[in-house]
Amino acid sequence: MFEKEIVDALKKKVKGDISLSVPPDDSMGDFAFPCFTLAKEMKKSPVQIAEELAKTIPMPEIVSKITATGPYVNFFLDPAKVAESLFAEILSKKDKFGSSNVGKDKTIAIEFSSPNIGKPMHFGHLRSTVIGHSLSLMHEFSNFRVIRLNYLGDWGTQFGKLIYAYLNWGSAEKLHACPIKHLYDLYVKFNEHVEKDEKFQGFAREWFSKLEKGDQEAVSLWSKFKHYSVDEFRKIYDLLGVTFDCYNGEAYYAKKADSAIALVEKKKLAEIDEGALIVRLGNDMPMMLRKSDESTTYASRDLATLLDRIDEFHFDTILYVVGHEQSLHFEQLFKLASLLGFKQKFVHVAHGLYLSPEGGKMATRKGKAVFMEDVLDETIALAKKTIEEKNPDLKNKDEVARTVAVGAIFFGDLFNDRVKDVVFDLQRILSFEGDTGPYLMYTHARAASIIKKAKIRASKDCDASLLSDPSEQRVIKLMTRFPDKILDALAQYKPHILAQYLIEFGRAFNEFYHKCPCTQEKDKNVQLARLSLIECSRQLLENGLRLLGITAPSEM
Ligand code: ARG
Repeated sequence: MFEKEIVDALKKKVKGDISLSVPPDDSMGDFAFPCFTLAKEMKKSPVQIAEELAKTIPMPEIVSKITATGPYVNFFLDPAKVAESLFAEILSKKDKFGSSNVGKDKTIAIEFSSPNIGKPMHFGHLRSTVIGHSLSLMHEFSNFRVIRLNYLGDWGTQFGKLIYAYLNWGSAEKLHACPIKHLYDLYVKFNEHVEKDEKFQGFAREWFSKLEKGDQEAVSLWSKFKHYSVDEFRKIYDLLGVTFDCYNGEAYYAKKADSAIALVEKKKLAEIDEGALIVRLGNDMPMMLRKSDESTTYASRDLATLLDRIDEFHFDTILYVVGHEQSLHFEQLFKLASLLGFKQKFVHVAHGLYLSPEGGKMATRKGKAVFMEDVLDETIALAKKTIEEKNPDLKNKDEVARTVAVGAIFFGDLFNDRVKDVVFDLQRILSFEGDTGPYLMYTHARAASIIKKAKIRASKDCDASLLSDPSEQRVIKLMTRFPDKILDALAQYKPHILAQYLIEFGRAFNEFYHKCPCTQEKDKNVQLARLSLIECSRQLLENGLRLLGITAPSEM
């Protein structure tokens, strides 16, 4: 914020593109203008240029001081004017504060979550779910048209396994009573058999091939399994507050694979290799579009999907929020799409894994899987326990426990750069201290409670020059950065930029809160100014957390 005023002033003295930086240290002002690139044209040293500019630039309203430090021109904003302008903006924009129009007239499709059906939702799919959900919210907030896609893994040989296992060892009653658990047991049992005897692999292939050919028995079982799974997934999404516009999965697009492959063949990009149809894209691994037994592949289904989505959704950009172990697959898919002449922007928003606190991978191992449902239940139970200790009189404890649990999980993930692996430590992410969701939710609730108790209302007409304590100034300064942090997070598809900023903001707010009492303050004008700062901080926290998929309760 306020960058534009400074850039406009600089434009009166400097030609060309002007970009400002944020100095590493508060004592160097709020913005800096580096003069290096001007040296050649002006035939002076950057230090000289900075000195001259500092003296001659017309001072914008919002700026109180301009200095030169070495090759930089430093701009100091006038804290009272900044606060007044911020308060007016936040109190009028409310839940829209921080939004922008960068997405105007643009459509972005975001594919995320995409679990595999016939199994319980694996905990690993949580990362994609959380990151994709947050990116969807941020884009929407910035006025993009957002299309949320869930590419269900509902096709492939694993369904051959399930069908075989169900027909031989399954029970209709168990399937009806506990569908996902029963299917999972069957899946595990099948894999145990394969380990002892390779021929079971063949049974699975046989059944999958029947499924692909439309065999009635196979198709009817498959669609039963699918319905049960999707019902189960929806319960989890409801709990997390996550929604999708389209659930078309691999099976839906498998039917369109032939025409996608035909397009590749028409462009003479494919060749036959040992009976399979492949494309060589210059990587070591060719991309296989059709197996020698004629069945479609993960790659050809994904290509068909992409082409169909381009047609249906008319997006400018599509994001695939998927673990980085699939990087090569997406690299090839995007390359092939551009060879076919598509000009949209394709991005693999890759992420790391969850690791267990002991260091290992949290992955399915012969029945020892970590399931999303179990983790969610455990987190909610723990959150409830903490709330009962901290606030035994709270009315809607169950609801708050759910909100805190979901907030803890979301923030525990989004605080980390998505490309890195994340240790999933339940105790830590649920803690009310440290870099956690509950810490920020609690900070928000604290601000909300002061506002609720106060007899006066926050106002843009308060005297902001009374907010002179360094802790107050720090909060104001950080507040100005909120809109840009959202834009930075968007530009890199990295929600942690916002999450880490919110922690910094929360810390600054708590320091101010402890140092500068509001309700006990005798001077009514000071009280009003502080209360306004508290309300604006609360609003910022509410908005920021919402963009991470977290609801901030006003009491907890
Ligand atoms: N279902 C896949 C998995 O669980 C993820 C799908 C990724 N998206 C895609 N368009 N290939 O591994």
